[in-house]
Amino acid sequence: MKIDTANVSAGNIVDYLNAQEHKSMLRFLTCGSVDDGKSTLIGRLLYDTKLIFEDQLVALESDSRKHGTAGENIDFALLVDGLEAEREQGITIDVAYRFFATEKRKFIVADTPGHEEYTRNMATGASTADLAIVLVDSRQGVLRQTRRHSFIASLLGIRHIVLAVNKIDLVGYDQAVFDGIVADYMAFAKDLGFETILPIPLSARFGDNITTRSEQMPWYDGPALLEHLESVPIEDGALDRPFRFPVQYVNRPNLNFRGFAGQVSSGRIAVGDEVMVAKSRQVSKIKEIVTHGGNLREAVEGQAVTLVLEDQVEVSRGNMLVAPADAPQVTDQLQAHLIWFDANPLLPGRSYILRTETDSVNCTITALKHEIDVNTFAQEAVKSLPMNGVGVCNISLQAPIAFDPYKHNRSTGNFVIIDRYSNATLGAGMIDFALRRADNVQWQATDVHKKARAELKHQKPAVLWFTGFSGSGKSTIANGVEKLLHARGRHTYMLDGDNVRHGLNRDLGFTQEDRVENIRRVAEVARLMVDAGLIVLVSFISPFRSERRLAREMLEDGEFFEIFVDTPIEECAKRDPKGLYRKAAAGEIANFTGISSPYERPENPEIHLHTVGHTPQDLAVRIVDFLHEQGED
Ligand code: ADX
Repeated sequence: MKIDTANVSAGNIVDYLNAQEHKSMLRFLTCGSVDDGKSTLIGRLLYDTKLIFEDQLVALESDSRKHGTAGENIDFALLVDGLEAEREQGITIDVAYRFFATEKRKFIVADTPGHEEYTRNMATGASTADLAIVLVDSRQGVLRQTRRHSFIASLLGIRHIVLAVNKIDLVGYDQAVFDGIVADYMAFAKDLGFETILPIPLSARFGDNITTRSEQMPWYDGPALLEHLESVPIEDGALDRPFRFPVQYVNRPNLNFRGFAGQVSSGRIAVGDEVMVAKSRQVSKIKEIVTHGGNLREAVEGQAVTLVLEDQVEVSRGNMLVAPADAPQVTDQLQAHLIWFDANPLLPGRSYILRTETDSVNCTITALKHEIDVNTFAQEAVKSLPMNGVGVCNISLQAPIAFDPYKHNRSTGNFVIIDRYSNATLGAGMIDFALRRADNVQWQATDVHKKARAELKHQKPAVLWFTGFSGSGKSTIANGVEKLLHARGRHTYMLDGDNVRHGLNRDLGFTQEDRVENIRRVAEVARLMVDAGLIVLVSFISPFRSERRLAREMLEDGEFFEIFVDTPIEECAKRDPKGLYRKAAAGEIANFTGISSPYERPENPEIHLHTVGHTPQDLAVRIVDFLHEQGED
């Protein structure tokens, strides 16, 4: 077999791919842990297609003798694992894409490193893949994780599976073992909707059935892995899908030229075609399709071009140009499937960032409908989604996004969930459908508004948000502040954790998810009260930064005052006004803040009160003085 080789350093991937343009491209990934032989398999594929450079090969041979587990043979896993270690230093790269080609086809393999982080890497690497190689160790057969990876592959829209029954040499190339594993897998995977599932018995270590058929298994009459990868049908008709063009930037070198640069994410576009701006629904026509190599008459999926329109329409980075006859939907409420990667569970009510190819907006999960058991596909009611969990949820967005359902378009239908503090990717999602059109429910403007209500009361509405441990003195101090404000003729209201938990939040306990919801609700109430023109005192432990920030962001600048009632936990336990610390220490109360449930200290409170050595009255006066200085009172 003649094989093309290529140096795949970042700079020349594009040139290399251009040179290969006439060939079809298969994108695939491998699922399985390192123990299943994933690294060895990729290493073997690259080696047998001669994609390893000479110097790496020399290193590999000496490394294998030093550290390898394969005796005199080359340990291919060392190759991939070594590169992994390098990659781990560049923290931002989750998935390495490796390119190789044979005479028949080009390949991109998403090499997804890691063990615990596996689901995350898989979901990131797989969203464009056509095929997944599911590795099973012949000695172990189908495991829970085999099922999970296959389920996720189906969720991500991967259509072809290779069931790679690896390490077949270790079971004496026994057909019965192979047949048993295949029967087991097929029984599970038949409902997952894959177009093809091809089981192959192989030994990545010895190269059996990798690039050529093995002589060790005369009973197997199917293709070798590479033969199959070369011939599995790749989705055609992709160009018939509706045109989608996320705008990466607006190219405006001079006043006479205004082009929208980006990559065609699906479909095709030609000069003279009508296009629409996804969110504003404005329509224009394509005047020119500009590229480095000159103007084109037509551009298709995957091509990077600059589009010039006939009319002056407002299109900014992050918007999408689309086919008007088949435009994406626009919504701020949607249902989606979510895969959660993070060690901290997904908490409904918490504010996250939802990022699509074009948009980045704040969101909250308004309902976690169920978690899906990856073994039985049963739907289970849950209150939070754990690491590696797959669930279905409703999501509310702070601003509308343009999208397609994932099953119609993988690139405009997927998103990731991002932590607002660390910027870490916490989960990946696939949009099912919109729950309502963005314009159906709007905030109703009223004639009597916040400012008018506040003026009548001669005050500036505000929220004084007291946070701190139970027994830190929040309510006592807040009570003092309210008395002082009331005496000055201010219109106030106090929302106290213990009281609100008797009514509005009677259904909530003290788990993380219940506390998130507790604070979300009280923040909403506080916001309405500010709209009514009141000065609102909120006294809740509110242990999480994320929810305190959510409350702050619901209000306008200058309306929110975070007051950290900073009393050391030992002091609170000593005061123990309700006897709760004694009970918590005796194990009679679960999830007790500061003891068996976390408290995240405020980083930048407007007012930081050290309470030890001061009376609540003094501290209340300090707060009122502070407000006065701020012109708040
Ligand atoms: S929060 O964490 O969700 O903000 P919140 O302020 O509403 O808590 O309620 C705290 C009050 O509930 C405490 O002052 C205490 O009286 C009572 N409580 C009962 N169980 C717990 C617990 N496990 N942790 C903290 N407070 C508790």
